Amino acid sequence: MAAVSFANDIAPTLFKYRGQMAWRFDLANYEDVKANAKIIADQITGDPPGMPPPPFDPFPKTFTDAFAAWIANGCPP
Ligand code: HEM
Repeated sequence: MAAVSFANDIAPTLFKYRGQMAWRFDLANYEDVKANAKIIADQITGDPPGMPPPPFDPFPKTFTDAFAAWIANGCPP
């Protein structure tokens, strides 16, 4: 698999929620997501995940794994 990147693997999935989280950070903005990567990872991987909150579906494991890999790789843009 190609190296995970914000543009290809993270931003497309987070984009649709940016309005709901704009009060705290911009989920479509690389610097914002990078700066908050740890708390975002905690929220999306809880059991049950805190974010996205009900009635929205939790992210699939393919996405939470990609997010963890993105952090492990140093949050490449
Ligand atoms: C429709 C979707 C969403 C709604 C309505 C929403 C709403 C909220 C609300 C009301 C809070 C503050 C109360 C709480 O912590 O429960 C919060 C916190 C948070 N949300 Fe969301 N959210 C949404 C989607 C997302 C998504 C997709 C992510 C991450 C990818 C996210 C990441 C976070 C984080 C990290 C916090 C904690 C912020 C902090 O500790 O300062 N949210 N959200």
